[in-house]
Amino acid sequence: MVSLARDSSPIVLAMVGLPARGKTSIARKIARYLSWLGHPTRLFNVGNYRRAHLGTAQPHQFFDPNNTEGRQALLGMAMTALDDLIGWLSSGGEVAIYDATNSTRARRNLVIERCQAHGFPVVFIESICNDESIIETNVRETKLRSPDYQGVDPEAALRDFRARIAHYARAYEPLGEPERSYIKIIDVGRQVVLNRIHGYLPARLVPLLMNMHLTPHPIWLTRHGESVFNEKGLLGGDSDLSARGDEYAKNLSAFIRERAGDEHVNVWTSTLRRTIQTARPMTQNHVAWRALDEIDAGVCEGMTYEEIRQQMPEVFNARAADKFRYRYPRGESYEDVIQRLDPLIIQLERQRSPVLVIGHQAVLRALYAYLVDRPAPSCPTLPIPLHTVIELTPTAYACEERRFQLAPAVQGGDSSTAHP
Ligand code: SIN
Repeated sequence: MVSLARDSSPIVLAMVGLPARGKTSIARKIARYLSWLGHPTRLFNVGNYRRAHLGTAQPHQFFDPNNTEGRQALLGMAMTALDDLIGWLSSGGEVAIYDATNSTRARRNLVIERCQAHGFPVVFIESICNDESIIETNVRETKLRSPDYQGVDPEAALRDFRARIAHYARAYEPLGEPERSYIKIIDVGRQVVLNRIHGYLPARLVPLLMNMHLTPHPIWLTRHGESVFNEKGLLGGDSDLSARGDEYAKNLSAFIRERAGDEHVNVWTSTLRRTIQTARPMTQNHVAWRALDEIDAGVCEGMTYEEIRQQMPEVFNARAADKFRYRYPRGESYEDVIQRLDPLIIQLERQRSPVLVIGHQAVLRALYAYLVDRPAPSCPTLPIPLHTVIELTPTAYACEERRFQLAPAVQGGDSSTAHP
């Protein structure tokens, strides 16, 4: 089976920044994006090593640069994490993200030395943020909920964390070493500075990092209403909505109007009739994306799964054996669908108002896997039923999900159980 070719040279992405500057959130976003695109990626968070080895209840004095014992202990944790990272890359990993403050030149030099000794290039990613309201939100939403402050009065926790930041700030040296490879993100993407960024993978990250923002908004995912092909159990095609599909389109319009209130909603469809017809009761101003078209079933378009099983058993069996990588003859695989959705993900990341995506089962499985951080190979079994809206609201570290079934369940023709 032909798989996608990719440059898989190992690389280290090392975060830089004061506490509460969104490093972990950025690191997780990068890990989610690269894993989804098929690059084995792993996060190594030094704070987690500290909590696991030294306990959670370290007061701010522990982080004081003049506290020699604390410094030694933290250095030990940073190096243990780095050793694990190097071990993982040496055993076949591709992208290792080193999530730590790395706030001094001396520390960054140490990271470079160790990684380069094993032949792994390092790109630093620094998050600088001077906007007090962003820092405050970040501290309240992530830090005060961390195990470091479990059971601690929120105001006392806030004071302690601010003192911790002040310790780091005294010794902080922003990135500026001209010989280093780095991406500097200022105020969550307001300004992005690139220095010595070469190669396919670091360059691929730049659009993602440039389009980051912190404005929360829902993303609604829905398949089109039931189509005439769905009723007959046929794959693909470009059929119209059935009567039940028309009914769903009306329900969807009322639902979105009620959920969005006065907010503007961006409505995205594929270029296929059944998604455009589903958007019609709501708006004529949808954006039709070819990237959202359903997986191309190639020579199997217009057939039922039963016909494929009987007339093309080799296709049926090969797809059942690896539904994620299997590419229909003259068509696509799920893996192909993910690659064509990449530009759409960047557009989705840019949006600051609600987005309604009216798509198809396979493309929505791929989008959903990205948004909720599921392993890409699990795509083919993710449940995306007809006549159901999935509401996703991204937060700093996760994505909240609610599902609304707007009409009685109907068979989707290409449901996850129809073809293993
Ligand atoms: C931490 O222990 O929370 C972070 C350690 C560091 O990278 O400075």
